[in-house]
Amino acid sequence: MQTHPIPVITIDGPTASGKGTVAHRAAQQLGFHYLDSGALYRLTALSALRHNVALNDEHALAKTAEKLPCKFIGDQVWLANENVTSAIRAEEVGNTASKIAVLPTVRHALVGLQLGFRAPPGLVADGRDMGTVIFPHATLKIFLTASVEARAYRRYKQLIDKGFPANMEDLLKDLRERDTRDSSRAIAPLKPAEGAHILDTSDMTADQAVDQVLQWYAAVKKHA
Ligand code: DC
Repeated sequence: MQTHPIPVITIDGPTASGKGTVAHRAAQQLGFHYLDSGALYRLTALSALRHNVALNDEHALAKTAEKLPCKFIGDQVWLANENVTSAIRAEEVGNTASKIAVLPTVRHALVGLQLGFRAPPGLVADGRDMGTVIFPHATLKIFLTASVEARAYRRYKQLIDKGFPANMEDLLKDLRERDTRDSSRAIAPLKPAEGAHILDTSDMTADQAVDQVLQWYAAVKKHA
């Protein structure tokens, strides 16, 4: 297998599996860069919603993705001159992101941006297709999941904490729909990459999950 000199850890998994938290903390502990690829789809969705781009206009959506004026500064996400860190987390934006993520030209338009995050000393990338499509030669690949109930509850708490309205029944329905859409789409469907470690976090704390990722990484490095 060809390996890239800059190590990459990919963490893929369904919505609200906790992969964002785990990937972010693992990156911090290793001193690595962090790519939240879902944020790029959310930024494209937000930009399209703001500019009234029709959600069936694939060409215009791909243009939006290609010219995304986004910046990541620490934990803050900017779109042009606006801090959109909270705005991209709204449910409407997440749902729209999931819909436009089925479009091949939109996915293609975001590839270069994602590859650009690979920089020394290393990268932790989270998303749906990090290990299958974007970084197929990653040093370590993880498929992080949790039961739909555990994920709905986590999302519920997240939304309430951020001051957004939330309802468990709606969230469960939404997650199931989004899971089906993310895993049944023709291009880059959500599935474990070849050789990925499966990590079910339904009964784990985020810290336990991070420890497991770091242990796997230490083992891979030892054998490299
Ligand atoms: O991880 P998230 O909920 O922030 O992602 C939002 C949407 O973006 C998700 O429903 C599917 C899409 N997505 C994708 O298709 N590929 C990725 N690598 C990351 C996200």
